[in-house]
Amino acid sequence: MLNRKQFGEDFHWGISTAAYQIEGAHTADGKGASIWDTFSSQRKKIYANHHGNHACDFYNRYADDLQLLKYLNIPNFRFSLSWTRILPTGQGQINQKGIDFYDRLIDKSLELGIKPWVTLYHWDLPQAIENKGGWTNREVVNWFGDYVEICAKKFGDRVNDWMIMNEPMVFTGAGYFLGVHAPGRKGLKNFIPAVHHAALSQSVGASRLKNIRKDSNIGTTFSCSHLEPYSNSEKDILATKRVDALLNRLFIEPALGLGYPTGDLKLLDRIYNYFQHNDEELLKFDFDFIGIQNYTREIITHSYLVPSLHAKIIKADKRKVQKTLMNWEVYPDSIYHILKKYNEYPQIKKIIVTENGAAFNDVVFDGKINDEQRTTYLKDHLKKILHAKEDGVKVGGYFVWTFTDNFEWAEGFYPRFGIVHTNFETQERTIKQSGYWYKEFLQLS
Ligand code: FCB
Repeated sequence: MLNRKQFGEDFHWGISTAAYQIEGAHTADGKGASIWDTFSSQRKKIYANHHGNHACDFYNRYADDLQLLKYLNIPNFRFSLSWTRILPTGQGQINQKGIDFYDRLIDKSLELGIKPWVTLYHWDLPQAIENKGGWTNREVVNWFGDYVEICAKKFGDRVNDWMIMNEPMVFTGAGYFLGVHAPGRKGLKNFIPAVHHAALSQSVGASRLKNIRKDSNIGTTFSCSHLEPYSNSEKDILATKRVDALLNRLFIEPALGLGYPTGDLKLLDRIYNYFQHNDEELLKFDFDFIGIQNYTREIITHSYLVPSLHAKIIKADKRKVQKTLMNWEVYPDSIYHILKKYNEYPQIKKIIVTENGAAFNDVVFDGKINDEQRTTYLKDHLKKILHAKEDGVKVGGYFVWTFTDNFEWAEGFYPRFGIVHTNFETQERTIKQSGYWYKEFLQLS
């Protein structure tokens, strides 16, 4: 039977969330608008026109929610800071009430014996910065750095574990190339500069944090999926290589000092148009840990129809496989392969799985949620992580995505990922079977 002790005493167990997905209170106490406030106020951007204005009302309910985390024996809580609570227009004047909120949240966590793991950027760019070009404007590197410094100075006396960014590939890809996430921009002309400035911000932000808090544990997080070619044809194999460079290597390799993977991804060549003197050096940072976030695997085939990339993903619903409500295949081996893959970079000191979880069709029956599939999903992934660890992979932690059901970006409130059920009308929380399972698993006897 799977047992916490098998992972070792220094393994970090936790749960992950993000500000926009849980906090709500979108205009409270001087908070400025973020690109997600704007995007979700537009029609037909989000499933059923949902928005995160109220979400889980975590802003007002954080103390009770922390008590629930404690009850669930969860020792590490990953949450993100909302840039516009702290700096309503992204720069300049600090909003003291925003600082006060995060002070209360951090202090209450510590009081309950829960360690805060803080993400500095989980997709909610200040709208005022987007109005100046957002991630496509190189000045964002300084604005982000200034924001990081403020957070380091205000909270770094109590927060030791930091993640600079959440999944830069997703917020640049979905937000600046496909236009399906905020700010809804499209095309390579937006994507390529956004990539470079996000990558620079990640390393520059990390250095500025380190300069202020020398002893902090600094990581950043990447989305990643194990990829397999649809067939053994050379075309499919090469297509898979290109998608790998795009989805799995684009942000990590420059951070490790390896530069962008342009050799395997020609469409990236024009990124050098945005380079300034010394950028290669600026892109590097010696992270204490790398967060990997894995949910599924992808099957890749060559496609002439997709410009530049000439490759596409064959979705799970076309493949007769078990899938989640996100149409993501349930494939626990993916996390094993991904851990092995990242472990091969000698520059990576430690890997932490900062997100993993699943959305299924939860049914509330008699006040109970018997989410067997989610429990199985989590257990099966943990078995694969243990296997990787036993093979010598430097994996040092696991954070479930997520605590309470919340606002799932473009999918609105439809896919429920929580190990705790949220009734979005009453804000009542109900622990699911998976939550009870995690509680018992984490129990130190
Ligand atoms: C990740 C995001 C997280 C959540 C999960 C399901 O890509 O980081 O906010 O939406 O997916």
